[in-house]
Amino acid sequence: MQQKMMAMLIRHFIIVMHLTMSICPPLMKLCGCLIGTDVTTGGLMADCSKNTELDLDFECLARQGLESLDLSGNDLQKVPEELKLSGFKDLKHLDLSRNKISSLVTYNFGAWTRLKSLNISHNYLKDLPEEMPPIHTIDVSYNQLTDMHSIFGLTNTIAIVLGNPILCNCNSSSVQRMYNITSDLTVIECTLHGKDPPMPISIQCHSDIDNVEYPSEWIYHLILIAVIFIIFVIYCGYNFCLI
Ligand SMILES: *[C@@H]1O[C@H](CO)[C@@H](O)[C@H](O)[C@H]1NC(C)=O
Ligand SMILES: *[C@@H]1O[C@H](CO)[C@@H](O)[C@H](O)[C@H]1NC(C)=O
Ligand SMILES: *[C@@H]1O[C@H](CO)[C@@H](O)[C@H](O)[C@H]1NC(C)=O
Repeated sequence: MQQKMMAMLIRHFIIVMHLTMSICPPLMKLCGCLIGTDVTTGGLMADCSKNTELDLDFECLARQGLESLDLSGNDLQKVPEELKLSGFKDLKHLDLSRNKISSLVTYNFGAWTRLKSLNISHNYLKDLPEEMPPIHTIDVSYNQLTDMHSIFGLTNTIAIVLGNPILCNCNSSSVQRMYNITSDLTVIECTLHGKDPPMPISIQCHSDIDNVEYPSEWIYHLILIAVIFIIFVIYCGYNFCLI
């Protein structure tokens, strides 16, 4: 009798465990991180943020087939070499924010062909690679970047660039690059000589911005030319009729 009761209890316990696990997938402590399933995408994510004990085991992480890796707030001085392990090639989201990374110039992001978002905000970055990957979102806010041409050259990328002492280059092609990225030039702050406090590029480069020919202005020019042409034709035709 008691054995039957025990068996029933255990069975109920297992059913309840299954139910709770399917509703809130558990986070497992593994490889020095918390690993769980992202409920929206179904992919595996690892939260290795603020890992003060620094017991991260990258080889172990590489075996998990992660889609998302959060390495924020770890005092990292550079992008960990271990991320080149082939086990990380399916990464879609990488968070390196709030570290102490100062250079990316030699870094080859091309290795991660599936990368969609990269967050490297709140670091000490002074440079970027000459070629940035054409990913969906890149957050480089709050660094020490003075030059962002490799980011402003990307089309179809959402770039978050606030909080950098970008040097304003007020010639129209570089202004238009920035316009291509945000189409709202008030959100890009830059400094003209590196010493003055950063101000919106729309204030720093006002006269040059007036000279930038945005794609939509071409249409206005075309319409204007067409209208003048029509008036001309009508006027001449009318005059010819009179003659
Ligand atoms: C990047 O990380 C910072 C700090 O961890 C966070 O505040 C910000 O929202 C993140 N950016 C994006 C685009 O998620
Ligand atoms: C304008 O900026 C572009 C790209 O930033 C550069 O290649 C070009 O030499 C600049 N032109 C002048 C006149 O400064
Ligand atoms: C801005 O974007 C348009 C189309 O997306 C592209 O043709 C043009 O070359 C870009 N301009 C600059 C300066 O990158």
